[in-house]
Amino acid sequence: MTELTKGAQLIPNGMLDDNYPRNMWWCAAHVDEVTDRPMARWLLEKPVVMYRKKDGTPVALDNRCPHRWAPLSEGRVIDDQLVCPYHGMQFGADGVCTRVPTQSTIPPSAKVQSYPLRQAGRFLWIWMGDPDKIDHAPVDMGYQVNPDWSVVTAYMEVDANWVLIRENVLDLTHIAFLHAKTFKQGDWENPASVSMEGESIVYRQDFEPSPLSPLFCAGFGFPDGKVVKREQEGRMPSLAVSFSDWNVHDIAAAPGERIDYLVRGAHIVTPGKRGETHYFFAAAFDVPDVSDEVLDQTKTNILDAFNEDKDLLQKIQRLVSEDPRGLDFPEINLGADGAGVRVRQILKRKLDAERSA
Ligand code: FES
Ligand SMILES: [Fe+2]
Repeated sequence: MTELTKGAQLIPNGMLDDNYPRNMWWCAAHVDEVTDRPMARWLLEKPVVMYRKKDGTPVALDNRCPHRWAPLSEGRVIDDQLVCPYHGMQFGADGVCTRVPTQSTIPPSAKVQSYPLRQAGRFLWIWMGDPDKIDHAPVDMGYQVNPDWSVVTAYMEVDANWVLIRENVLDLTHIAFLHAKTFKQGDWENPASVSMEGESIVYRQDFEPSPLSPLFCAGFGFPDGKVVKREQEGRMPSLAVSFSDWNVHDIAAAPGERIDYLVRGAHIVTPGKRGETHYFFAAAFDVPDVSDEVLDQTKTNILDAFNEDKDLLQKIQRLVSEDPRGLDFPEINLGADGAGVRVRQILKRKLDAERSA
């Protein structure tokens, strides 16, 4: 591991380097991605293969056979064992080799690393650090599997360091500017107030009545342009996860009709290869049984907006990577960077702790 690059950033974000803690839960996949067929994904700069056993238990192993290094994900799952595609060595869910087709003795070192996986909400979470240091569960996302909510999930690969996405989703003042044509939520003119609640970064901001972003009107059953009052509240309980709550109040609700609504975004990032990030997203309306058609359209609209972020963040990453000045360039903080600065403080603290251990 390298030190976070020192430069003109007051608190370096390490965007060109290995800048992710290991001893925490990162998202490995949407639950539906992992089946009885092996699936490959780079996580924390390591090749990982995932599959499910017959009883549904998800398994994650190093995706590199210790014999001649074939990607195990090209093999097959037989009786809960992963069979290498090259010479047929077989590995159990714990990574230990159970069979070598051409000999009866199994070399004692014939095993691959296995990683703990757990489910939370609609996602699987992997611990790639020291398993003896697992001291907490993945962030609770029970609402995502609660039938009182209607949920869309999406995934995109972003060629930018994960911390750029993390900072992006915690400073929503960019919505009025970068997403002027998609979110159309132009009233984001002031920074949110930011505080720490325990280990979580929290931001809050109230808005006077204004038309709600068309991205979310249909999910609530509102016509486009519906004027609502909003309280925006965000929370980052882990570097891997932040939530953005749009608390919406129907100020024209007839007596006895519903007034309060919520759409909660979950922004989940996982480092992949160096400079690449898996970005998992869930938008959840606290409204049951929203139609598939509305959810599909909502997903399309959200992806249109998030592709604006992706495009710009990738350009930032490329610019900083290719510019010989790298991070040695002035970087100023604005009032709206309160949450982003705290991300860097938390990141630095975690990395310092892991690297000095
Ligand atoms: S490379 Fe896997 S069995 Fe030979
Ligand atoms: Fe954005």
